[in-house]
Amino acid sequence: MTDYLLKMEFVLSNLWNLGSMRSSESWRTHRKILYNAFHPRVMPEYYADLRTGSIFLLRNIISSPENFVDHVSHYTATLALKLAYGYTELETNDNQYHVRLAHDMNDSLQSVVPGSFLVEYVPILRYLPGWFPGTSFKGKAVAWAVSINELKNKPWRRLKQAIDNGTSVPSFSTRNLEKFNVVITSGSEHTGMEEVIKCCAATIYGVGSDTTTSAIFTFILAMTLYIDVQKRAQDEIDRVVGTSRLPDFSDRDSLPFVNAVFSEVLRWNPVTPLGVSHRAREDDEYEGYSIPRNTTVVPNIWAALHDESLYGPNTMDFDPDRFLKHDVGKPLPPDPGNIAFGFGRRICPGRHLAESSLWITMTYLLATFNVAKEVDSQGQEVEPDVRYSEGLGSGPFPYKCRFIPRSSAAVKLVAN
Ligand code: HEM
Repeated sequence: MTDYLLKMEFVLSNLWNLGSMRSSESWRTHRKILYNAFHPRVMPEYYADLRTGSIFLLRNIISSPENFVDHVSHYTATLALKLAYGYTELETNDNQYHVRLAHDMNDSLQSVVPGSFLVEYVPILRYLPGWFPGTSFKGKAVAWAVSINELKNKPWRRLKQAIDNGTSVPSFSTRNLEKFNVVITSGSEHTGMEEVIKCCAATIYGVGSDTTTSAIFTFILAMTLYIDVQKRAQDEIDRVVGTSRLPDFSDRDSLPFVNAVFSEVLRWNPVTPLGVSHRAREDDEYEGYSIPRNTTVVPNIWAALHDESLYGPNTMDFDPDRFLKHDVGKPLPPDPGNIAFGFGRRICPGRHLAESSLWITMTYLLATFNVAKEVDSQGQEVEPDVRYSEGLGSGPFPYKCRFIPRSSAAVKLVAN
């Protein structure tokens, strides 16, 4: 599949974010900047921000565990804003606003999933009024356009003001402005490179936060359902790291079971089940199938990650052992990250950032909380509703669970 998709091009070409750009010189320029910023070699530069952000998440969960959904969304949005623009205040009054912008951006990307809107099959719907059946896409497109515009322009205006006032802090944006010798002030006009950096920064914020949020919700859901898995991961952390400090990136190689849980989170319910659609640039043939030029090709990431010939039996179950136990002579299952983040030259440039932030968030949560099922007024455990949204980005529907600090020492670790 990977080789095949190398020959493909994106179906959509009308948005400014890298993910929906058609392969072109401009796409290459944007892509190179993001690729260089989030290359595995530079990942350690982000570790401090990832630790700080995760601690902030833990503190919020301690103070109001029932609001964990908001806390996780806030964490990923503020982290993306910090990395992209250097926003320092993690507690802003406009949290919900920033979370919503990123969410709208992801909703809008739903339109790249073939079949989402009837207009793809009946193009004449484009010319009919908004009240006509089948034209709901018009209203959605208008609302999304407003949010997407704000998402791109507002943080950038704020960055310019911070630069004017001398209060900006190093970030993806300032580093690239410096690298490409672009001087910006509130009054300055856009130069070509300013626009490129601005679009890339907005892509980090717009694409990076909702995707990571979904993966964290999947992890929490899995821990709620599979208490034995949670316990084994916590035992490993206690044994290897101890309880007097939090786990850290340097512990990664010493935590095989935690790493298997991490792989299973990426595999069990992938964030982009149908990847991003590509288009055949030329007539092609793949394993006996003829694929005419301009065919839309949808990579079925969900199916690949549930293929029992690759991942062993019961792929609907959350079972990290599939990455640990294997028969002599049989290879280990493929790393789900090599499938979940797409393929070829359009592979997700945020993969290493997403993996690092998911890993540290997971291990911090495991080290400090027991996640348990909700209990009703009779004291009976309530099974969470396991259902996932459809679209380009998929995540669990809201579910309830409890976060119980593992010990007073764990609470102290978070407070300090
Ligand atoms: C768990 C989190 C994430 C998942 C599962 C994910 C998955 C994907 C997938 C499947 C694609 C399409 C690749 C293809 O066409 O084959 C993609 C593209 C992309 N992702 Fe991610 N992603 C995640 C997080 C992020 C983050 C944190 C960023 C921000 C830095 C990011 C930025 C992008 C961009 C810019 C593209 C478009 C690349 C291009 O078209 O050249 N992603 N992602």
